[in-house]
Amino acid sequence: MILVTGATGSIGRHLVGLLRDRATPFRALVRDEAKASSLGCDVVVGDFDDPASLIPAMEGVDRLFLNAGGAQPVDGEQPMIRQQKAAIDAARAAGVSQVVKVSVWHARHGGRLAEGAHWEVEEYLKGSGLGWTMLQPSGFMQNFITGAGAFSADGKLLDPYAGVPVSYIDCHDIAACAAALLTGSPGPGATHVLTGPRGLTHAQVAEELSAVLGRTVGCVALPPDELAAALRARGLPASFADDVAELSRQVATGYLAATTTAVQELTGRPPRTFAQFAAANAEALRTGLAAATS
Ligand SMILES: NC(=O)c1ccc[n+]([C@@H]2O[C@H](COP(=O)([O-])OP(=O)(O)OC[C@H]3O[C@@H](n4cnc5c(N)ncnc54)[C@H](OP(=O)(O)O)[C@@H]3O)[C@@H](O)[C@H]2O)c1
Repeated sequence: MILVTGATGSIGRHLVGLLRDRATPFRALVRDEAKASSLGCDVVVGDFDDPASLIPAMEGVDRLFLNAGGAQPVDGEQPMIRQQKAAIDAARAAGVSQVVKVSVWHARHGGRLAEGAHWEVEEYLKGSGLGWTMLQPSGFMQNFITGAGAFSADGKLLDPYAGVPVSYIDCHDIAACAAALLTGSPGPGATHVLTGPRGLTHAQVAEELSAVLGRTVGCVALPPDELAAALRARGLPASFADDVAELSRQVATGYLAATTTAVQELTGRPPRTFAQFAAANAEALRTGLAAATS
């Protein structure tokens, strides 16, 4: 039995669909049963912030897909560290054998926001005695759907990366890698850096969005200092704003530009292009852009 966490999220919804297609026994951990009604699978209600709820959720589970939200705008330790450690403890207590964890590319000791937080969870999982696989994705194509902070008030795509490309990946491909790992023969612990098929600048992303939306989407530079000031103006903690700005400076060095062959190797097919992603999500992209500029 597989337990899918983060099932109502960008990766989890695809993973649920892929496991359903394979007729693999699985259930989804959800916080809100009503929100999960569209998943069309068995669900169990639980919350990483309520460790007692994870004990019944893990009963009879052999393989765990470990994923939840990313870095939060908080001062101090990222909540995901405490939350995912609680899920690993519950998995160990329940006799789970394998964990496939969503992490982030460049997860490392002392890294900012999700990079440091995922590194701590990775280390905890590696020391837990459970079998493990880390998925370290590049930036998500889905970030352009939510629209939050991605567009200017007049609908231009913001570029905090100084025209340097990012090898954006479709969450569908992350889910496909996870499905292959969760249903295949577990090997020794391994870390896979997952990317899309090519690096794209935000100007190129804007061209792709223009093509699918049938209207011109412009692109405008957003220097990291201005990004930090905008986040502070929205009331977010100064330390969080500074960390986001610093991560943008790192991305502008080409930090997320390279591509890997991991999606091809794990799934037997190449990763989806941005055009394929945009065509499959045109309505959501249109709605996200409208919401960001309203
Ligand atoms: N965005 C990027 O470019 C990027 C790049 C690399 C790595 N990542 C990593 O990818 C992960 C996010 O994946 P995603 O985009 O699929 O997530 P997402 O769309 O933000 O969804 C988060 C999921 O986690 C669930 N969740 C949140 N808090 C929970 C809790 N306390 N207990 C149980 N479930 C909880 C949510 O449930 P509800 O529906 O109830 O809220 C939802 O199903 C993060 O770890 C992030 O660091 C992101």
